[in-house]
Amino acid sequence: MSKVMIIGANGSIAQLVTQQLLATTTDELVLYLRRSQQLANYADNPRVTLVTGSSSDTDLLARAMVDVDVVYSSLGNGVHLDEQTQHVIDAMRQAGKTRFIYISALGAHHEVPGKFGDWNDAIIGGELVGFRKTAQLVAESGLTYTEIRPAWLTNANEVAYETTDLVTGFKGTEVSRASVADFAVKVITQPNTYQNASVGLNKPNTDGDRPSWY
Ligand SMILES: NC(=O)c1ccc[n+]([C@@H]2O[C@H](COP(=O)([O-])OP(=O)(O)OC[C@H]3O[C@@H](n4cnc5c(N)ncnc54)[C@H](OP(=O)(O)O)[C@@H]3O)[C@@H](O)[C@H]2O)c1
Repeated sequence: MSKVMIIGANGSIAQLVTQQLLATTTDELVLYLRRSQQLANYADNPRVTLVTGSSSDTDLLARAMVDVDVVYSSLGNGVHLDEQTQHVIDAMRQAGKTRFIYISALGAHHEVPGKFGDWNDAIIGGELVGFRKTAQLVAESGLTYTEIRPAWLTNANEVAYETTDLVTGFKGTEVSRASVADFAVKVITQPNTYQNASVGLNKPNTDGDRPSWY
């Protein structure tokens, strides 16, 4: 049993991660979010601690993570993610924590090839600036990190994904939030895997010039 902190816990992927950890492990969770009443359904769960706070409150973040083993961040949406993540890094240093797992996005390393890469840059260029700065500061933080770079997200009720790394380059155009949560739970529960790694996630056989719904 370990204790896991989930930052941005009201997010869609974060909620799936929470549900999966509660259902499949005995882990205890610290759920950190801006309005904890949004997750009031966990208020009486003895395995859950709810903390109301902003990602910019370094001291509160540090106090909330004092006895956790792994810090997972699902903060969104890219713009200003570097500033938000710097607070998390500072809090982890303050609290003496080392294992950090976070959600980024495809394109954070200019790794998406071809026309889809150009289209992705054109559509989410503003957010990508934040994802790219975040990747750099996390890599230079000294923390043991896993950066998860999903393709375009869907709410499909399916777990179907493959992984890529920065050497093989990005594949596919889309992936379900359920798949991203499944992979995040794998790393959270086996924190000695994917250390200092950047992992692309996509649904197999979804290559194209843009996601299918565009
Ligand atoms: N959409 C796509 O196709 C796509 C593709 C690849 C990657 N991504 C990235 O995947 C990530 C997770 O996706 P998702 O669907 O789970 O996103 P989401 O539902 O929007 O969750 C993001 C969470 O971050 C929280 N947050 C933002 N600023 C905060 C702050 N200052 N302090 C505390 N919490 C803060 C939000 O809190 P509130 O609930 O209080 O607003 C929200 O719950 C996002 O970062 C997104 O950019 C998206």
